[in-house]
Amino acid sequence: MTRTGKTPKKALPAPVNPEINNLINLQIYLKDKRGLVEQAMADLMPGPVNPPAELARHLEAMRHSLFAGGKRVRPILCLAACEAVGGAVSQALPAAVALEYIHTYSLIHDDLPAMDDDELRRGQPTNHILYGEAGAILAGDGLLTLAFELLSGGLPADIEPGARLRIINIIARAAGSLGMVGGQAMDIGAEGREIDIETLREIHSRKTGALITAAVQAGAVIGGASLDQFAALTTYGEKIGLAFQIVDDLLNVEGNAEQLGKAAGSDADRCKATYPAVYGVERTRQLAEETVAGALKALADFDENSAPLRHLASYIISRNK
Ligand code: IPE
Ligand code: IPE
Ligand code: MG
Ligand code: MG
Repeated sequence: MTRTGKTPKKALPAPVNPEINNLINLQIYLKDKRGLVEQAMADLMPGPVNPPAELARHLEAMRHSLFAGGKRVRPILCLAACEAVGGAVSQALPAAVALEYIHTYSLIHDDLPAMDDDELRRGQPTNHILYGEAGAILAGDGLLTLAFELLSGGLPADIEPGARLRIINIIARAAGSLGMVGGQAMDIGAEGREIDIETLREIHSRKTGALITAAVQAGAVIGGASLDQFAALTTYGEKIGLAFQIVDDLLNVEGNAEQLGKAAGSDADRCKATYPAVYGVERTRQLAEETVAGALKALADFDENSAPLRHLASYIISRNK
């Protein structure tokens, strides 16, 4: 299985599921994995008995954004990457949940008045509309911190200590100042300014691509990927991560709020740096397709266990929300 001659993990069965070779079954795959992830998200939330009223409200604010809906793309990518290298989905579930906690925090803060100032998210009022700005900031802080509590203390016991540290490091770097947070800083800084295409690509790769790449990498480490497999999956993650944000830009132009569960047309209103603003809609779609084609190329040496990752790449450009 490995091309570096490294011994793959023996304890983990290789879950070959012939059903997932069919694109139609992607919908079944997504539904099934969403169910698993959402159950684990609920199970892994802190739930003290009879918390003081203000603490109960803080926990409710976190739950509001977590369970308002959401495609669960990052956790599902983590599970699918684990499967692609022969690992068991259950091993990757806590890390997948941690990724969704971090992503949800990023959305809560992204919507704040000081950031994108949005009032609709996942088809519901944004966190600060319901819980106030301080409540929303703290709900985000709580989710980010909870993710690292889970990563440091809640991964399955048979993941080796070295692999645990590597997973925490991968996700921390991706969420931090050279990844998502840095990308958000660049995104806000670019509002209303002309920027070159290299800078635009960098913003997208950091603000959205980094966490998506980390989701794939974390799943790969948990599944026992070889060095070559890890490198190929990193390329796959970087490309689908960039494509994901390019499509987010497109949907902001072409979609509507009811379909998206969040505002449409808002990027133009806020003079955001986006692909359609630079390239126009048609060329932007082409670029997204080319980027996904590059991601699929990176999977060339993987066996049929990578079918979900291939289908997820196609889903990322064909999605309508
Ligand atoms: C939206 O992410 C924000 C971006 C980073 C582009 P998603 O499109 O994954 O949002 P949810 O999780 O499904 O709500
Ligand atoms: C969101 O980017 C990126 C992060 C939350 C890190 P956008 O601001 O473009 O995403 P939406 O359109 O609000 O979901
Ligand atoms: Mg934003
Ligand atoms: Mg936004």
